[in-house]
Amino acid sequence: MTAQIIDGKAFAATLRSRIAAEVAALAGRGITPGLAVVLVGEDPASQVYVRSKGKMTREVGMASFEHRLPAETLQDELLSMIEQLNADPAVNGILVQLPLPGHLDESAILSAILPEKDVDGFHIMNAGRLATGQKAMVPCTPLGCLMLLRDHLGSLSGLNAVVIGRSNIVGKPMAQLLLRDSATVSIAHSRTKDLAVVCRQADILVAAVGRPNMVMGDWIKPGATVIDVGINRTEEGLVGDVDFDSVRAVAGAITPVPGGVGPMTIACLLANTLTATARVN
Ligand code: GUN
Repeated sequence: MTAQIIDGKAFAATLRSRIAAEVAALAGRGITPGLAVVLVGEDPASQVYVRSKGKMTREVGMASFEHRLPAETLQDELLSMIEQLNADPAVNGILVQLPLPGHLDESAILSAILPEKDVDGFHIMNAGRLATGQKAMVPCTPLGCLMLLRDHLGSLSGLNAVVIGRSNIVGKPMAQLLLRDSATVSIAHSRTKDLAVVCRQADILVAAVGRPNMVMGDWIKPGATVIDVGINRTEEGLVGDVDFDSVRAVAGAITPVPGGVGPMTIACLLANTLTATARVN
């Protein structure tokens, strides 16, 4: 079997054009959704992401507010910027790009963002709402993965899902979303014993570990749907957490890197910004 390729790039483009149409409708009522992105320091990958987020935000007709702060920015200075953005009615969504420089307290910073403007879904209130089945702002990367899975599989009910990775940004919220869709969910991680055996149970396998080409073809249940969240910069270029060639020969469907989950993340950020705007208008 050769797996079907799940085209996240095309799916994300369709989603962005739907968002652009809704933004145009809001413009008729004098409303422009606004997204503020805060970047502290000069991390090269973060700079690329932030530039790309600003470009896509403008392309769908939203207002983009970019704030670049020096790496030495103090905790109080960043907190006061977040307070200003919280109070600004032109700003519907606030995103603080991670990772932050080491002297800043990440969880305190993320918790300073108003939960209703927390378009990353990283605020503890949104994490708690998601975990307890309430209406939440959902982290963009797992939300994008869920959309691709639903589009490809229809119902996820009763399927065995294995998530490799337990980060607050991807692994944990991904598991919550799969559970909400009635999948049977396991979270595997660096201490999991017999990882290959665990993965072979999976009808849905989501890899979010940040280790290039780690998931091999003989870890895959024939016909499984494989979602590769990894974006690893190697000498061979950008590669995922999944060994594409060997897995493709066994899986039923697979997301490529690049062109799979990556484009979905920004599209979902714009979707969350639209949701945040709709909730106050
Ligand atoms: N750094 C890597 N991924 C993300 C993300 O989804 N949001 C933010 N704020 N920072 C990130």
